[in-house]
Amino acid sequence: MDIKLEYDRSKADLTGMIHDLEHAFSRVLRKRNQGYLGFMELIKHQEDIGRVKEKAEWIRDRFENFVLIGIGGSNLGSLALQEALNGKYYNEKPKSVRKGPRFYMLDNPDPESVGDLLDMLEPEHTVFNVISKSGGTAETMSNFMIVYDWLSKSLPQKAVAERIIATTDRENSILLDISREKGFDTFFIPNNVGGRFSVLSPVGLLSAATCGIDIDGLLRGASAMSERCSNFYPEDNPALMDAAVHYAMMKAGRNISVMMPYADRLKYMSDWYAQLWAESLGKKKDNDEKTVNTGQTPVKALGTIDQHSQVQLYAEGPDDKVITFIRVERFRREMAIPSQFSNFDSLSVLAGRGLSELMNAEQSATSDALSEFGRPVLTVVFPEINEETVGQFIYMQELKTAYCGELLNINAFNQPGVELGKVLTRKYMMETEDKGNPDK
Ligand code: PA5
Repeated sequence: MDIKLEYDRSKADLTGMIHDLEHAFSRVLRKRNQGYLGFMELIKHQEDIGRVKEKAEWIRDRFENFVLIGIGGSNLGSLALQEALNGKYYNEKPKSVRKGPRFYMLDNPDPESVGDLLDMLEPEHTVFNVISKSGGTAETMSNFMIVYDWLSKSLPQKAVAERIIATTDRENSILLDISREKGFDTFFIPNNVGGRFSVLSPVGLLSAATCGIDIDGLLRGASAMSERCSNFYPEDNPALMDAAVHYAMMKAGRNISVMMPYADRLKYMSDWYAQLWAESLGKKKDNDEKTVNTGQTPVKALGTIDQHSQVQLYAEGPDDKVITFIRVERFRREMAIPSQFSNFDSLSVLAGRGLSELMNAEQSATSDALSEFGRPVLTVVFPEINEETVGQFIYMQELKTAYCGELLNINAFNQPGVELGKVLTRKYMMETEDKGNPDK
């Protein structure tokens, strides 16, 4: 079951770009062979995969709640996987129906959310996976310190250590030092895999496997996409085609990339994509140290909801967007619209039809309407949402980002622009220490 990328070639002529595309394709291949692109290797046998599965089973047998502590590349992929493959009411399902513990997230260090979540949980029945590649991210480590303290107040040290699993860098990380000192079980993020490219490493796989997601299926899907993208011809290589269209759009001044799935389950794929696209391509300098201030602003939308919010702007507002729809051919369940009130003409057209037919009719209608307005659209078609198609999609978007980085001649794998904010946060925390610390 392959996902497909549909694009009307008449809307952007890629023939003049063939040389650039060849260059990007071979640069990505070369960087991969030189060992820089670790995300492309995650589809092969990962050293930790057996341990991930064992740990997931161990957690499932013992705990009611799984809480992931992480931010950015360390949590968005996991959230996207949970939503796509377990659905939005997973936590509310009875234990006999759920395939694992309830799943929660501590990302923002917002005192109200953090406090509200801990109020709901019992230390005895809860396990935490703290994920930070650098091991020093202020938001993640603050939330982790609160959790560690919370556990320590009611459980003996051995039981606390059992309830914390750390996922971090293998060498340079305070989180690793703490884990060794306290005896936490630890998983590693390969050195050459950046945060936003890490969802198919233990970063995303441990919570997924714990909550019953078939992680072999995810990796099989990613591997199948990798195989399809081993071909240079953009018609056969969906990641390259997608990158080419987005690059052509950027060159034409379309600096916004909208991702609009028509499926609730894919809502957080847009959040994951937004971070991948924004942090990877938003760069001041190119590889020759020339100031380019490049990038394309990602916008998250959800069909049909944003038809009633955003689509007016997409149709008639500034012509600065390229819109990617995601369409699901077959939903995993159908809800028939019953023949009620069919004496009203406008309702009789709905009666007897499935909600999935309505979703897809609305997707086609919105896409065709935007095309009529001359707005560029692409569609990624999922035959259905399952582990293999999600794995294909993730890998395709990661590779598309790598290709686009080469087309733009920038480093898609660093994020110097967020460093200054981190330095200033530390400075402001130090300056306000006396006022802010309730113990002083
Ligand atoms: O993609 C990235 O590298 C970032 O978004 C990081 O994932 C994010 O800043 C969190 O970093 P860390 O995993 O080091 O806590």
